Amino acid sequence: MTIAPVQRTASLGSSAWTDARLIMALEEVVEKELNRHLQVAKDWMPHEFIPWSQGRDFDGVLGGEAWSVEQSQVTPLGRVSLVVNLLTEDNLPSYHHEIATMFGREGAWGTWVHRWTAEEGRHGIAIRDFLLATRAVDPNELERARMSHMSEGFESDNAHSMLHSVAYVAFQELATRISHRNTGHHAGDPLCDQLLAKIANDENLHMVFYRNLLKAALEIAPDQAMRAIADVVTDFRMPGHGIPGFERAAAQIAIGGVYNLRIHHDDVLQPVLRHLRVMEITGLGPEGLRAQDELGVFLGGLDAQATRFDERQAALLARRAARQAAQ
Ligand SMILES: [Fe+2]
Ligand SMILES: [Fe+2]
Repeated sequence: MTIAPVQRTASLGSSAWTDARLIMALEEVVEKELNRHLQVAKDWMPHEFIPWSQGRDFDGVLGGEAWSVEQSQVTPLGRVSLVVNLLTEDNLPSYHHEIATMFGREGAWGTWVHRWTAEEGRHGIAIRDFLLATRAVDPNELERARMSHMSEGFESDNAHSMLHSVAYVAFQELATRISHRNTGHHAGDPLCDQLLAKIANDENLHMVFYRNLLKAALEIAPDQAMRAIADVVTDFRMPGHGIPGFERAAAQIAIGGVYNLRIHHDDVLQPVLRHLRVMEITGLGPEGLRAQDELGVFLGGLDAQATRFDERQAALLARRAARQAAQ
């Protein structure tokens, strides 16, 4: 069955691009970017990154050893972050549904959708194999969380607009890259860091694909693309927001320096916006200018908020260090 792209007209008057027209107009860019991606993406074998020799039977059916926390050298922050990252990857069937519905499954778009899905599938497999072989997290809790999270499914906040969808994934792929990368740095296990660096590299290539597509969209439909970028940036949330206990995990991940407002502003939003020269684009119509202004105001506010977060984080970490020193 072929899923036809959703046809909608944006609220920018009769000259506005519909999603169907944009999808057709961008097909050539998709083909070019797909070919570039296939040339630079090096195939890798997830099983080579897993220390299988550390693995052994669990309790239950095989009567092996039950999981307990001291069996792994992974840090508490690493555990929380790895679980959030894995559960996020696990919801791939929902993401595939969302992008296949939006971009279609034909031509270059379809080839990209399937290739991207296959690459993302590798991430969940590799992280789960690593966590189970090294006993880094409670396997029962992990499986219950996966069932609960996937049973909820995922619905895109941007299913109403093709440009919003492209803008979202450009930022989200970079957010995922940074999240995997920093999780690796904080995991306390060099093999985990090595695996997450490999995965982060894939996420970076995904970001480049969508960012280049967004660049082409800014040239074809600058006002609508600017509106989409402003909407997505000002209302951004990670795809894992539906994970059980997400708020608490996100707070630990923020304090621990894996992903927080400062990182979101400096390492995710700004690099994409600067690369596309979003704040310097001229010749916009009234709607594009309004969106660009909104974006500028928002980024200023976010930077200030991130600075307040930095201060609170520094104070909290200093208190923790003082408490530890007094013990
Ligand atoms: Fe991924
Ligand atoms: Fe990705």
